[in-house]
Amino acid sequence: MSDFAPPLTQRRVLSGMRPTGKLHLGNYMGALHNWVRLQHEYECFFFIANLHALTTDYADPSQIKQNTVDVALDFLAAGLDPEKCTIFVQSHVKQHAELHLLLSMMTPLSWLERVPTYKDQIENLRGRDLATYGFLGYPLLQSADILLYRPEFVPVGQDQVSHVELTREVARRFNSLYKTTIFPEPEALLTPTPKLPGTDGRKMSKSYGNTIGLSEHPARIVHKMQSMTTNGQRLQQTDPGDPDLCPVGDLHKVFSSTQRLEQILSGCRTATIPCAWCKHKAGESITAVTEPIYEKRQELERTIDQTWEMLIEQADKAASVAEETLGPVRAALNITRSLGAVRRQFGTTAAEKKKLRDVSGLYLDVSKAHLSPAQRSKELRDYWRMNILPYDIRLSQEANRNFASIKRELAEPFLTAKGKRVFIGGPNDNISTPLQGMWSFLVSTKTYEVWVLLRGGANDELLDFVLPQKIFAQPLADWKKVVRTGSSVAFPDGGAEENFWAQLFRGDDAKGEYEGIVLAQLRNEDGRFMLRIGYSAPIDVTDLSGNYDPLR
Ligand code: TRP
Ligand code: SF4
Repeated sequence: MSDFAPPLTQRRVLSGMRPTGKLHLGNYMGALHNWVRLQHEYECFFFIANLHALTTDYADPSQIKQNTVDVALDFLAAGLDPEKCTIFVQSHVKQHAELHLLLSMMTPLSWLERVPTYKDQIENLRGRDLATYGFLGYPLLQSADILLYRPEFVPVGQDQVSHVELTREVARRFNSLYKTTIFPEPEALLTPTPKLPGTDGRKMSKSYGNTIGLSEHPARIVHKMQSMTTNGQRLQQTDPGDPDLCPVGDLHKVFSSTQRLEQILSGCRTATIPCAWCKHKAGESITAVTEPIYEKRQELERTIDQTWEMLIEQADKAASVAEETLGPVRAALNITRSLGAVRRQFGTTAAEKKKLRDVSGLYLDVSKAHLSPAQRSKELRDYWRMNILPYDIRLSQEANRNFASIKRELAEPFLTAKGKRVFIGGPNDNISTPLQGMWSFLVSTKTYEVWVLLRGGANDELLDFVLPQKIFAQPLADWKKVVRTGSSVAFPDGGAEENFWAQLFRGDDAKGEYEGIVLAQLRNEDGRFMLRIGYSAPIDVTDLSGNYDPLR
């Protein structure tokens, strides 16, 4: 129904990792270490992409859960803190699958076929049949992962940049097809990755079998280091070497203190240290980082049920955030559960009609407590268009750019079938504490032929006042004159409150924030609805309620 999602209060980051089993130092330095830092600065979502694992391992999923648990334990052991960020397993949040499906409807095949990782991976994983629908959709599933949380940044390695780029294109296409602003375009946050060789000197990678595990036993790491290659440096220990050409030297550069590094560099060049000692020291520098991670993992493994339980809770938390995006997406695609606009095609009884106008749920729903008056107003307006406005009246939405200067939520101009411009607005009051019996509306002073003012709140039925131009033309002209000349005009019946509004709207205090806006106030006086527009005398609009002729 409504096409906005709640405003984000903190800048958001999202990233995911495929469950490849226990993490190694390369995974840590390339991603996880950075995530741990980011959790303190952003609202972060980190997840284990087990559905992505299925795109390549569908024929043998036997390792997926073990690997997922192993990655989760390493995430937590390395310092991702469920108090500070949301950590979860992708498949536990069903919204990922749903959004992937929905996005697949509008994503051109060619966009997926040209993603560079597609052909690369098919080459690399030759043993497997990857001519599947799911594998082609891999980067689109990733787009769904990302867009579901509407993050500003997606920390990834260089190899994933094309996936974020696809995500941006999908977001743009969705927004433009359905004329919404649901999806902001996320940006890749490139992780600076130091050169991290494995024990054989090649890039550290599980497929090379040359890794040093992040949560490996410290003594094992130190031992493993002894067999690390020097890449041909100092085969004779009496010869000097070049630490820039030796992978052990590279590990020192990443893990050792400056002091230790200088000692190693000069000792290597002058052949005054043995390689065995150098490797031992590299092992010590590494385990200084990994030992606390090892210890923490041991502890988490002893309470595996609690850890898993925690992941499930985190998934529930993620799901409720994801719903904030998916709700508007379902609405944009016209697949929500509510009968909505379709109901208007069918004869409704008076009781049903009355029920339709009961919008207390729209406001009393606690999940909407954070909505600003402008957003609530938009909800009310969307509800009215979908459920109350007679079916024969079509209001199309005009391009926003014509009204760029007006706050979007306040006024999105609509056009009737005959091209009349229509302003539709709900009250600007905080609905939980409306001034006794009075509602205020911020109405655009742009040229409209019809105003529709909607009123509805707690214990209230939705009332709609459809005002033809002849009602508001003169009050509006008077108002504009006052604002333009800065002259002060007394309200016919005065009062402190009115003076406050007058001041505010003349702009002394508001610094132009209310420019282009007129205040209208609606009061229920013994069953008659009296409207004052700007400085006008009260106008009885009771009979204009529910009269849609001006829109035909
Ligand atoms: N494709 C990513 C990788 O292989 C993992 C991933 C899945 C991801 N979904 C994501 C990364 C969303 C960032 C955002 O590393
Ligand atoms: Fe490599 Fe260290 Fe030996 Fe130099 S001293 S070759 S850096 S292991």
